[in-house]
Amino acid sequence: MKIGILTSGGDCPGLNAVIRGIVLKGTTTYDLEFVGIRDGWRGVVEGDFMPLTRHEVKGLSKVGGTILGTSRTNPYEGERGGAENIAKTLYGHKIDGIVAIGGEGTLAAADRLAKDGIKVLGVPKTIDNDLRATDYSFGFDTAVNIATDAMDRLRTTGDSHQRCMVAEVMGRHVGWIALHAGVAAGAHAILIPEHPMTMDEICAFVESAHDRGRAPLVVVSEGFTLEGMEEAYSDKGLDAFNRPRLGGIGDMLAPEIERRTGIETRATILGHIQRGGAPSAFDRVLATRLGLHAADAVVEGAWGQMVALQGTDIVRVPFADALGELNTVPKYRYDEAAALFG
Ligand code: F6P
Repeated sequence: MKIGILTSGGDCPGLNAVIRGIVLKGTTTYDLEFVGIRDGWRGVVEGDFMPLTRHEVKGLSKVGGTILGTSRTNPYEGERGGAENIAKTLYGHKIDGIVAIGGEGTLAAADRLAKDGIKVLGVPKTIDNDLRATDYSFGFDTAVNIATDAMDRLRTTGDSHQRCMVAEVMGRHVGWIALHAGVAAGAHAILIPEHPMTMDEICAFVESAHDRGRAPLVVVSEGFTLEGMEEAYSDKGLDAFNRPRLGGIGDMLAPEIERRTGIETRATILGHIQRGGAPSAFDRVLATRLGLHAADAVVEGAWGQMVALQGTDIVRVPFADALGELNTVPKYRYDEAAALFG
């Protein structure tokens, strides 16, 4: 059996470890053959494939990014898009099925293709940790570690100058990165999309920390909104899916905190640094296990499903379980962290 592997949507550390896991188990245990599909669904639609043997995946578990490339192409768009055309392209290249590694958009496309008769299996990916049906997604732990390290650094310079430091992290719709990195770094306020706040509340936390002689640290998700804001801050236009490119709320908040409190305040936007570089050990293990289990699922013909982490087990769930609602930060988790604010 010949299987195509693709990575689609925003990249994240651990994608290469999944690819390696699938190819190693698939070739050594099952005698499967693999091809790499370049740049996500674009490669499927345009028939752009590359060799993917054991040789191509050697040493990959610690390598960031994706050797296959990625894009946000919709497989149903364009002259050669759509399930019928894709089925012909796959048949022409003797490809029996696809393993698609990606986030919500990728899995929604995979679900639709599976319903239209294409053999597709999913592996969930998102640094935001916003997918349901998996307890954690690889890339998230690495992003949290990078953000925590950055905030530890911001604290020493903030302490030296007695400044308030605002650290902006990724998180379009959910605040998991901000919550985990904020708790780990001892932030005095954690601002997440699920919990809008007023400037007065934020400044009260900043002033309370400052009054105790601390240099206040505020962590904010890019998708956070102040109470009354209709949508997340964006001044960088739209992405390929016509979604606003987020980033910049930290720069908006810092001068306002300074103006209201009189405390010198600086903002740092971590941006794509959180998605780059080597995956953490946790993400390497999770990604490798998902890859190994994806190879099993292919052989057992579990098409139309995705592999996922539940507890400490890798399980299989229908695509639908991961789609629709997002995995938001529950109120009890935010309230728990709020005891540390100020
Ligand atoms: O979904 C992951 C994510 O990193 C979000 O946190 C962020 O809003 C988005 O991707 C950025 O995407 P891009 O790399 O296309 O700008």
